[in-house]
Amino acid sequence: MAMEYESNNWIWDGVYYCPRLFGGLMLTAALLGLSTTYFGGIGLFPLSYVWSDSGIFHKMKCEKKRIRVYMDGCFDLMHYGHANALRQAKALGDELVVGVVSDEEIIANKGPPVLPMEERLALVSGLKWVDQVIANAPYAITEQFMNSLFNEHKIDYIIHGDDPCLLPDGSDAYALAKKAGRYKQIKRTEGVSSTDIVGRILCSVKDTEGGGDYTSTLLNGDSGERCHSQRAQISQFLPTSQRIVQFSNGK
Ligand code: CTP
Repeated sequence: MAMEYESNNWIWDGVYYCPRLFGGLMLTAALLGLSTTYFGGIGLFPLSYVWSDSGIFHKMKCEKKRIRVYMDGCFDLMHYGHANALRQAKALGDELVVGVVSDEEIIANKGPPVLPMEERLALVSGLKWVDQVIANAPYAITEQFMNSLFNEHKIDYIIHGDDPCLLPDGSDAYALAKKAGRYKQIKRTEGVSSTDIVGRILCSVKDTEGGGDYTSTLLNGDSGERCHSQRAQISQFLPTSQRIVQFSNGK
């Protein structure tokens, strides 16, 4: 039964994927069929039988290879900068795989995250641009991890925002992907980051409680100045009509 279904399906696949090419082929086939019949040769039926049997139409489906892209990150306290990054990453391919960096790797490279792995993973998985997630991804793209992305996960490109992503030793976390020619960049959204959100929360605590020892210690003594500059910061990410269309579901 499965064979029967497949042998009939090429007709509709052909019409759907390449209507012009299919129309042209059918016209040629019809003309050839007519002429061979006219000249006493074989008719259209045997000819189409030979073609479908040899699988020529299956190969001519014009199916485009689906591009799989990978973006990683901490995605702590998910914000619109992350959503915009994932939206842009998805636009660079057909399927977006997101690596959520492990708690241990974030602690080693940036300091402790506010949200643990499971919560960050749940938030990332819920976004409409994300097709697949990889939990406990490494912070830097090592050779071993890069090979597993290319070979096991069939990733075509690794993507990151245009902000420098440096390891504690000052080297570029994406150096290997860049060297392999499989790196693409998206534009980082100005005016928002996880670190900035943590700062804003601490500032609001300071405002309401008059700045206790706890917040002062966390903000390393320069809390007043830093809070003032954070409050003064204006996000460039304005909800224009074009922006709303970018984030909508296309309706
Ligand atoms: N990103 C972005 N715009 C932002 C913040 C993040 O485009 N305002 C992108 C980063 O470039 C990265 C991805 O989102 O490709 C995940 O970022 P993440 O690792 O979570 O870093 P930040 O949000 O920058 O975290 P922090 O501010 O704490 O460093």
